[in-house]
Amino acid sequence: MALSSFWVSLFIIVFTITGSIPATAEDSESKEFVVTLDHSNFTDFVAKQKLIVVEFYAPWCGHCKKLAPEYEKAASILSTLDPPVVLAKVDANEEQNKVLASEYEIRGFPTLKILRYGGSVVQEFKGPRDADGIVSYLKKQSGPASFEIKSAEDASSVVDEEKILVVGVFPEFSGEKFDNFTTLAERLRADYEFGHTLDAKLLPRGDSSAAGPLVRLFKPFDELFVDSQEFEVDTLVKFVEETSIPTVTLFNKDPKHHPFVIKFFNSQDAKAMLFLNFGSEQFEAFKSKYHDVAQQYKGKDLSFLMGDLEASQGAFQYFGLKEEQVPLIVIQTNDGQKYLKPNVEPDQIASWVKDFKDGIVQPFKKSEPIPEANSEPVKVVVADNLQDIVFNSGKNVFLEFYAPWCGHCKKLAPILDEVAVSFENDADVIIAKLDATANDIPRETFDVKGYPTLYFKSSTGNVLQYDGDRTKEAIIDYIQKNRATVAKEDSRKEEL
Ligand SMILES: *[C@@H]1O[C@H](CO)[C@@H](O)[C@H](O)[C@H]1NC(C)=O
Ligand SMILES: *[C@@H]1O[C@H](CO)[C@@H](O)[C@H](O)[C@H]1NC(C)=O
Repeated sequence: MALSSFWVSLFIIVFTITGSIPATAEDSESKEFVVTLDHSNFTDFVAKQKLIVVEFYAPWCGHCKKLAPEYEKAASILSTLDPPVVLAKVDANEEQNKVLASEYEIRGFPTLKILRYGGSVVQEFKGPRDADGIVSYLKKQSGPASFEIKSAEDASSVVDEEKILVVGVFPEFSGEKFDNFTTLAERLRADYEFGHTLDAKLLPRGDSSAAGPLVRLFKPFDELFVDSQEFEVDTLVKFVEETSIPTVTLFNKDPKHHPFVIKFFNSQDAKAMLFLNFGSEQFEAFKSKYHDVAQQYKGKDLSFLMGDLEASQGAFQYFGLKEEQVPLIVIQTNDGQKYLKPNVEPDQIASWVKDFKDGIVQPFKKSEPIPEANSEPVKVVVADNLQDIVFNSGKNVFLEFYAPWCGHCKKLAPILDEVAVSFENDADVIIAKLDATANDIPRETFDVKGYPTLYFKSSTGNVLQYDGDRTKEAIIDYIQKNRATVAKEDSRKEEL
């Protein structure tokens, strides 16, 4: 999950963490409608709520301060509903609440989550951030998960060109199948719209004489609708999730594709991505061949995306791809391996994907050659010797991830040299650097989003990101402190 969210962020999401703003004193003295929760009472309190909204905030965050009066006003209005909707907040910056923040995958502030049924269902708050907007969004969220379609107008107001709509057609709104449909709608309401009707004739597509019970899923791509008559809840969930993924997910700058890109990355499948210039003459040929292949592997644990080069810079950096390799296919499997076919032609796609499926294609790991001498004070680490030098050496390793073009890295280089020289007679310490643009790095261990990124791996195996000053003294001091004692988890805490 964490990895897939990281991927999504590469493609789309702009992080909302803002710079630090000095905290002002608490102002309001009057009754607060927003409930304060922390690690000690969060679980118990949430367990009692059918629906609760939780804001994760940080005291220094400007957007959180802007939201606070709106959120409070919304809370006071929502407290008068029957049943009331509770708004709560958690200071995610507070050390003891950090477990909660990581459990809910909080990456920016403020983040609002809707928790249902005692916290067993969690969804993203996707509504506006002003008091009236919050109120009307939550009124809708606290209402029924599925909307009754009574007329053709009702139907056309919910079937649209950009989203998925799931409609249950029933001879009557009762019975086990109807109940199961309702359960489905409750479970997936954050991500899809649901409707139910007694009359299939009102629906824009599909067999209009069907009496049901059946579930008809409308989608803005591929075959446009699909029916199912299975009513076992998990089967329904699977049906909705699988049929709502396009055969080929498109990715370019058009935001209407983005929800599907998110689904693509959240899927458990291996992921095939074809990158090319959407404006190129060969686009149609690629599209049709790729689509055929995707069709052929449907339901076989492999999902397909086609990305426009222009919008895919993040992915290119992540995978270490180069524009001259385009058109190219990358397949990333769930164990993090990747397989690459650069400069592919439309007619080669099918056979290459088959070879991949047959296990004939070798995984691709980008690495510079292992340096022969490596006799400079700062050791050169590449993908192929990273395991040996950093993890298997049993030493304390201070490692810089750099990019050749990065100015801050150039400034750091002589400092790192001096640090390395000062440890030259210390056999237990290695100062090293890795060109992260030319080597694959284990992303599950090293979170490298900018350059230079500095890590320390102690001889006992702790891996810590170094956020301290980039001076000789600070780095030496840090290494000495962290090699000897049990490493602290968060070096930043000491500075606050
Ligand atoms: C949870 O605990 C915090 C800290 O003790 C307190 O301020 C808050 O009012 C409590 N919330 C509830 C709902 O009990
Ligand atoms: C309704 O769902 C439950 C739980 O998944 C399942 O056991 C039951 O067979 C379903 N009922 C029908 C009529 O499919």
